[in-house]
Amino acid sequence: MKNIETLHWVGKQDGCLRMIDQTRLPLEFVEIECRDVEAVWEAVKMLRVRGAPAIGIAAAYGVCVGLQTVSNCQDEADFFGRLDEVTDYLATSRPTAVNLFWALERMKETAGQFRGKKSPAEIAAILLAEAKAIHQEDRRICRAMGRHGAKLLADGSGVLTHCNTGGLATADYGTALAVIFAAAESGKRLRVYADETRPLLQGARLTTWELMQRGIDVTLICDSMAAWVMREGRVQAVITGADRIAANGDAANKIGTYGLALSAAAHDIPFYVAAPASTFDLSLADGGAIPIEQRDPAEVTHGFGRQTAPDGVEVYNPAFDVTPARLIHTLISEHGLIRPVTREKIAETIAPTPAA
Ligand code: MRU
Repeated sequence: MKNIETLHWVGKQDGCLRMIDQTRLPLEFVEIECRDVEAVWEAVKMLRVRGAPAIGIAAAYGVCVGLQTVSNCQDEADFFGRLDEVTDYLATSRPTAVNLFWALERMKETAGQFRGKKSPAEIAAILLAEAKAIHQEDRRICRAMGRHGAKLLADGSGVLTHCNTGGLATADYGTALAVIFAAAESGKRLRVYADETRPLLQGARLTTWELMQRGIDVTLICDSMAAWVMREGRVQAVITGADRIAANGDAANKIGTYGLALSAAAHDIPFYVAAPASTFDLSLADGGAIPIEQRDPAEVTHGFGRQTAPDGVEVYNPAFDVTPARLIHTLISEHGLIRPVTREKIAETIAPTPAA
């Protein structure tokens, strides 16, 4: 099957960022074009593009879109002032996935290397090439995670996953879903249980869609069914992605992941997390300092256009939770498997990456 191109740059330097509007899937396949940095910000905030690596790639292209207003200016200070403005602005879109800050930092560092040596127009061109490089690297990284992780899944096993971690959440192929795709491509027969993933239903809307497109056996369950499905013996492995992993291995991911890890431990089922090096935030000693995004209560009370709770009800809507490292059997990165999940093993596998 053709890989999903969740986002891509269209045209030359004065082009734009085109992406699948993931809020419309699976009923409609619609692409939108972001022609200014406000449109990129809005697309990230509203989850038109989502998933940690895809957010990072979108932010890198967002910098290029944002710089179009100054790429022909002669004044270097104006250009770098705008670069700060654009990166600071994009950094306010979503707080948890560190890939966003990693990508913005990489773009700023790249620009900084050429300050005083090249014109704004030349630096803008270098930055577009850098955004494309981040995008292209992610394709290779996803394949590598798939290769390393595939050996963890036995033929005939049931695999439970949460949220969406596939081609839609990355340049293509995915993180946790890459492992499932690679295992399936190597001939293993898997039955995937996809959590619905309340409140925004990334599992129901996106993961089942991706798995069905690839002909992988997938069964949709409500989040509240996961423990029972494990108890029934249907699941031999749980695998998720992550939005930020601290130096000790504590991993933030979509709300509900922590509960899955606890259930997996209670049933002696290995819990795996697949994430690229750009998702590790080695500046944080543990998961306690990971910022957790709080989202609009309407996502809980008025999901998908229908009111499902009384007017005025108090709502708590954290978008992520943190799974302690002790519950993670193995971290799967593009550099290989990390187990046991310890600070030392992480440090030796993951090269330090700039963080927020
Ligand atoms: O709010 P989302 O849909 O951006 O959350 C995404 C997740 O939690 C994914 O599991 C995570 O980004 C890792 S996958 C690439």
